[in-house]
Amino acid sequence: MFRFYNKVTQNKVATATVLAALVVVVYVGFFQNIPKRKLTFREVSVRKYETDTKPINTQHKYTYSWPKCQRNNTVTKIPDFNSLPSHIKDFLYYRHCRHFPMLLDLPDKCGGPEGSADVFLLLVIKSSPGNYDRRQVLRNTWAKERLQNGVWIRRLFISGTQDDGFEKTRLNRLLEFEQRRHNDILQWDFHDSFFNLTLKQILFLEWMERNCPHVHYLLNGDDDVFANTDNMVVFLQNFKRGGRKHLFTGHLIQYVGPVRETWSKYYVPVQVHEPESYPPYCGGGGFLLSGYTARIIYNMSHSITILPIDDVYMGMCLQKGGLRPESHPGVRTAGLYVIDKEADRYDPCYFREMLLVHRFLSVHMYVMWHSLQDPNLDCTNYYKGQ
Ligand SMILES: *[C@@H]1O[C@H](CO)[C@@H](O)[C@H](O)[C@H]1NC(C)=O
Ligand SMILES: *[C@@H]1O[C@H](CO)[C@@H](O)[C@H](O)[C@H]1NC(C)=O
Ligand SMILES: *[C@@H]1O[C@H](CO)[C@@H](O)[C@H](O)[C@H]1NC(C)=O
Repeated sequence: MFRFYNKVTQNKVATATVLAALVVVVYVGFFQNIPKRKLTFREVSVRKYETDTKPINTQHKYTYSWPKCQRNNTVTKIPDFNSLPSHIKDFLYYRHCRHFPMLLDLPDKCGGPEGSADVFLLLVIKSSPGNYDRRQVLRNTWAKERLQNGVWIRRLFISGTQDDGFEKTRLNRLLEFEQRRHNDILQWDFHDSFFNLTLKQILFLEWMERNCPHVHYLLNGDDDVFANTDNMVVFLQNFKRGGRKHLFTGHLIQYVGPVRETWSKYYVPVQVHEPESYPPYCGGGGFLLSGYTARIIYNMSHSITILPIDDVYMGMCLQKGGLRPESHPGVRTAGLYVIDKEADRYDPCYFREMLLVHRFLSVHMYVMWHSLQDPNLDCTNYYKGQ
């Protein structure tokens, strides 16, 4: 606009603008008594991020800061509370908390709520801040954002915070740097622990409802899986025109109940979940679902108390929504069972037919992905002993 003025006018206008701005700042500061508190590092960086990334849709303003959720001290009255392991106590104290400040956001990841219908497959990968190497290898392999078979694949890592003090700050900075470079992280300020994974899921679903309600399909999984996303697209495109409304498929687990052994990572005492059974669910290492189903799950989650085992919790929401999870033989979240001890566990010919395999080391990921991309991959002599 200034290029229509001559240089002198331009300078005058600029000076006047600065003066006017100063007056406004002084006026507002004086009369409204703006708190003089120094912004924290995070506030500065979040604001900076917001201004650095242009296409923020102001129509969908979101509250980034939530008051700290207070712990529920009444839980100490639960029978035998004091004999519970400390992580279970901790879970019970904060079980009711569902809102946490958002530290890193990407409101335009799917091109806004309306544009989100253009995203065919959204990869939603649970990743703790410290797992930099895993994220980096996924960005270069199966989680690459791309147009595949004519449809869009998009990628998101979902994260909480880790550690305290300097270390927490440092890891938050790491995610910020990654965000600038890759634009693929959602982060909330809650302790990223195994027992908070359900919370992470719910926070993501809430985010999705707000920003990507019309994505067709999602892959929800861990950052240590190998996902054959090329195969996933083919599998999902094979559904008849219009696609599947309800879809929730993976490694189906049913007829099981809570682990009551205290030593187990999955230990859930009666004080947390009384029934002896779980509804059918799919192993949390990775499952595929439709956007429609994700939204039903989110809706149901409002009225279901948080269970710390995230994949079971998804099953509870499905059940309440009257939907069933399905089994897909190409999803191996319990890992591979190799009968032939001599066989190569990392034979690409085997992975060529898979959708997802859990526990896959970063170091093998790159070679596997590129072997599968190789049009000359020869599987004629491949022995299917697995
Ligand atoms: C606090 O815990 C008690 C005992 O489990 C429970 O009855 C109550 O609903 C909880 N309060 C909140 C706010 O969740
Ligand atoms: C979950 O995160 C909240 C917020 O950081 C924390 O207070 C709580 O202790 C965490 N719960 C578990 C079980 O880690
Ligand atoms: C859940 O779905 C019901 C029925 O469609 C609707 O009335 C309600 O507003 C939804 N709740 C949320 C939180 O989306």
